[in-house]
Amino acid sequence: MKTKIIRRKIKIAAEIIKKGGLVAFPTETVYGLGADALNRNAVKKIFEVKRRPLDNPLIAHVSSIDGVHEIAEVNKIAERLIEAFFPGPLTLVMKKKRIVPKETTANLNTIAVRMPDHKIALKLIELSETPIAAPSANLAGKPSPTKFEHVLELKGKIDAIIVGRTNIGLESTVVDTTVYPVKILRPGAITPEMLKEFVDVEIHKGKESKPKSPGMKYKHYSPDAELYVFVGEGVKKKIKEFANSLIEKGFKVGLAVSNAREYEEFEFVEELGSDLNDVAKNLFSALINLDKQNVDYIIAEGVESEGIGITIMNRLEKASGGNVYRI
Ligand code: TXA
Ligand code: MG
Repeated sequence: MKTKIIRRKIKIAAEIIKKGGLVAFPTETVYGLGADALNRNAVKKIFEVKRRPLDNPLIAHVSSIDGVHEIAEVNKIAERLIEAFFPGPLTLVMKKKRIVPKETTANLNTIAVRMPDHKIALKLIELSETPIAAPSANLAGKPSPTKFEHVLELKGKIDAIIVGRTNIGLESTVVDTTVYPVKILRPGAITPEMLKEFVDVEIHKGKESKPKSPGMKYKHYSPDAELYVFVGEGVKKKIKEFANSLIEKGFKVGLAVSNAREYEEFEFVEELGSDLNDVAKNLFSALINLDKQNVDYIIAEGVESEGIGITIMNRLEKASGGNVYRI
């Protein structure tokens, strides 16, 4: 399949969506891999291309508040959150309407809905005249794409890629509004503190036998290299010691650290930045770049668990399979 690279003509991308094709497009969080959320055959293709387990439901993206009501039953609580945070990096799980095929929601009677705060994404949805189902545009289990270049790995497998930029760098906050207090199923840029100004909030710990957000039971965000994360006061010394011990054994080691200049003696170093928003923006890109250089191990510097730092550590925790060490 020839993949069209689309720069400005969003209309062409919308025609592809209307015909049941797949289009990768930028949002303010990460790149999404979109298809008509109401077309079961189009949605099935997303699962095939991503090699995504069929029981992991998709987020439906809309371009207006009316669009939310077309596909979901909006209760008072959801309404309050929509008013406060849409468009933005918040996904609300609500009761689904019958118009949505079961393929989109992986047989659940709920649907996750989000209105992205991104010009290109909004335009694409509007011109397509349908909600767009879109997971992150990576292969299942891998770090999410935050740049146009990252999505090129899907070239030949999808109909089009729209050139553009993301902003936040981590996926949206997913909140279940069918229960009260509402439950955070996945942390994101909209923090518990922000939500608590409008509703009572509980944070899902993900230890129940039946995961509430189906995606939580799978390996996630993981680079091919084995990832270790260190966080705390003496982190620089610890990272250097650990990296050197692996290098002595003959392994190729990549580092993802706040300040690359402090690690000049190492060959594969990606800078995350020291501001938490920069770390969020750079994290997935750093992991993807180090993987491209075929390192055996990646050692990353963690951050304090406050504000968006909670989300950064959530992704590092999952990406490393729990290899997080506080020192
Ligand atoms: O920022 C984002 O949310 C990006 C951009 C493209 O919008 N999308 C994204 O989609 O991260 P994905 O498929 O990678 O993650 C969706 C998450 C999964 O953990 C999934 O299990 C959960 O949302 N989810 C979707 N529908 C659900 C539902 N009905 N109930 C509970 N969880 C649901
Ligand atoms: Mg994903």
